[in-house]
This record gives sequence, C-alpha cells and structure tokens, in this order.
Amino acid sequence: MKVTICIGSSCHLKGSRQIVEQLQALVKENHLEDKVELSGTFCMGNCVNGVNVTVDGRLCSLSPENTEEFFQKEILAAV
Ligand code: FES
Repeated sequence: MKVTICIGSSCHLKGSRQIVEQLQALVKENHLEDKVELSGTFCMGNCVNGVNVTVDGRLCSLSPENTEEFFQKEILAAV
C-alpha cells in the first residue's frame, strides 16, 4: 500500500510534517514497514482540503488530530 503525504507549503502549515511523523511511528508500532510505503509529494493542487494524503491514489483529508483514526480505518483495516 502506498501512502503519499502532501508536504507542500499549505499542507505543511496545517501540520503535514507532524502527520508524517505520526504515520511513521504507527507503521513501526504495527510492524507494517514491508506493507506500507510512506512518501511525500509537493502541492497536490487541493490546498483548501489539506492536509492531503493519498492511499493507493485515493485522496483523503487529514489533520494531526484525526491521523490515528485514519490509520486505524484506512491503513490497518486494509493491509
Ligand atoms: S500544499 Fe498540499 S495540496 Fe497544496
């Protein structure tokens, strides 16, 4: 599964760096390093809905507050 986090300036201001760190920690805690590939991308052109994250190409809107819930529902439940 490929999870791509927008690290463009608008998403960065909304906490994308924190989200990346949260996701890295969650992937590690759940031993999913070989199943989940985390990467970053520049602006996805959808700043108003940021922080933008795609899961296998499907666009999701995240904030540091709902990242854990997102991980449970969209990643843990799908791997
Ligand atoms: S900075 Fe993330 S969509 Fe523009």
